Amino acid sequence: MDNCLKKYYIITYGCQMNLHESEKIAGILTELGYSATNSEVDADIIVFNTCCIRENAEDRAEGNIGALKKLKKQKKDLIIAVGGCMTQQPGFAQKLHEMFPFVDIIFGTHNLERFKELLEKKLSQKKTLIAVDEKEGEIIEGTPKTRTSFPNAWVNITYGCNNFCTYCIVPYVRGRERSRSMENILKECKDLVKQGYKEITLLGQNVNSYGKDLENTSFAKLIEEVSKIEGDFRLRFMTNHPKDFNEDLIRAISVSKKACKTVHLPVQAGSNRILKLMNRKYTREDYLEKVKLLRQYIPDVSITTDIMVGFPTETEEDFLDTVDLVKQVGFAGAFTFIYSKRDGTPAAKMDGQVDEEISKTRIMKLIDLQNETNRKQSETYLNKTVQILCEGFDDKKGMYLGRDTYGRMAYFKSETDLIGQFVDVKITKTGGISLIGELV
Ligand code: 5AD
Ligand code: SF4
Repeated sequence: MDNCLKKYYIITYGCQMNLHESEKIAGILTELGYSATNSEVDADIIVFNTCCIRENAEDRAEGNIGALKKLKKQKKDLIIAVGGCMTQQPGFAQKLHEMFPFVDIIFGTHNLERFKELLEKKLSQKKTLIAVDEKEGEIIEGTPKTRTSFPNAWVNITYGCNNFCTYCIVPYVRGRERSRSMENILKECKDLVKQGYKEITLLGQNVNSYGKDLENTSFAKLIEEVSKIEGDFRLRFMTNHPKDFNEDLIRAISVSKKACKTVHLPVQAGSNRILKLMNRKYTREDYLEKVKLLRQYIPDVSITTDIMVGFPTETEEDFLDTVDLVKQVGFAGAFTFIYSKRDGTPAAKMDGQVDEEISKTRIMKLIDLQNETNRKQSETYLNKTVQILCEGFDDKKGMYLGRDTYGRMAYFKSETDLIGQFVDVKITKTGGISLIGELV
């Protein structure tokens, strides 16, 4: 069969981990002779890479899959595949098959690396192919990748999670934590730098526990080794877990010539009672202590976070503890979420689920507070010159954009294409979280 003109379209939900996994699916399809299209209607294969961390991501995916029924009727040869965390939930693949019988392939997170095999098998059979292994396997190296975010590149360092925060479904759908070998990670990073990538983001559900299943290694050691790679590039990593974020690591970040001066340190809540119920294994005092230590080593570090409101039994007093912590730390950015009940997690069975309206009021308060902090922090940039890695062009604004070492986004005009270059930008205008400037 001649695949030369075949096109793929991938729809990704959720986090950077998923975006990177979509790059692997794209890589596999590219090897099979497919090329990318940005129109569903032109596609020969449509892949949904789903997320189940919160209910709304799941609802959106289901809505979008359902909407393809008509297209599939018109285009009999169209292949529709659904993968990602959503399908990995117990019993979900079958449910999905019953809801959407026109879907051709349903594959789990543990089956992603075998997507080529699955597609080939599907092409030779009529019925829906369901491939969702219950248990994670060994790490599979060498999956091709079609990267989509030059000059940034993601590199997996761990898969799965062992933390079992009581609200979170990730450990159930991504399996136990497994670390990639340092050798393989370093090889991938070196290749990326050689290819001209200027920013590497190391990815894991909890990068700080990297190497616990290997011998004589740690995340601090990995930072040290990646930082030794020659070339002009920046290093980022996510996500950190406060319980494992230790002084050795802080030291390694502070002396690294490559590590950006920003750390994403999800706090989730500022109330000790809620943190305990969440099984986060640290107190607000521990968290604030780590922030203090981090700022001792890197005084200008920018700290970003994830915060959840409306966890079961959260009272106004608990919420005010969160507000107080947010004020004390002065985060450079915060992703805020309303707790979403996930079947199969311990929190789903807890009494005292919080009313949606109360959660909405709480999240709005947090967003307002964070916006105010962002505005104040942005003002300190006025008339300063910052080094920006140019990452793209914003069609709507007609401007290039990129981030500084602290992760702050800046927009600027240029006659020439600067994507992939470090440039100096003088900030002339500040808005909410982003900055506007001129090339100097
Ligand atoms: N409900 C709401 N937010 C959640 N997160 C994880 N699980 C849930 C859930 N059930 C958030 C956490 C985590 C981020 C990636 O998603 O804040 O840090
Ligand atoms: Fe979920 Fe907690 Fe693991 Fe993060 S550390 S993926 S929140 S269980």
